[in-house]
Amino acid sequence: MIRVTLAFVVVGLTIAAVSAQTESSRPRDPAWTAPADASGRVNPLASRPQLSAGGKKLFGQRCRTCHGDDRRGTDRAPDLTSPAVQAQTDGALYWKISGGNSRAGMPSFSFLPEPQRWQLVLYLRDGAISADSSLHFRDTP
Ligand code: HEC
Repeated sequence: MIRVTLAFVVVGLTIAAVSAQTESSRPRDPAWTAPADASGRVNPLASRPQLSAGGKKLFGQRCRTCHGDDRRGTDRAPDLTSPAVQAQTDGALYWKISGGNSRAGMPSFSFLPEPQRWQLVLYLRDGAISADSSLHFRDTP
């Protein structure tokens, strides 16, 4: 009888651990939006998508602790692959990375050279595909 109870406890704990893992990351603030002139800026590196590799490296050094290994967010920072983020323009993402939102815990990265910030934007897009008006995120190996 004790064994059966223990088995239930183990199963219960496993389910709890799995659901904690898949629990969504810290929610984003929908009110934090970039001004129109910033949103309209075009990524000067748009024609060189291969530079996203450098962005990935930077992300590992500067962003991963909060936004997670795969950009999918942690309890500290939101998922950057979500449709709400991917629907924003390159310019808007660049503006958010540059200025941050210190009150909400997103630091400013204006100290990084501009090309590095645009490389980060390239990386945030890497693997994101758009179909019709909705944006999806495709897993990259
Ligand atoms: C100390 C933790 C932390 C670090 C480090 C960090 N972020 Fe953030 N980031 C946040 C938080 C918290 C938010 C949510 C802010 C909000 O919603 O107001 C955020 C929001 C963002 C957003 C806006 C998402 C949206 O919902 O519109 C982008 C883009 C972003 N971060 C990119 C980056 C990049 C790129 C780096 C590395 C260069 C980085 N962040 C490093 C905590 C962090």
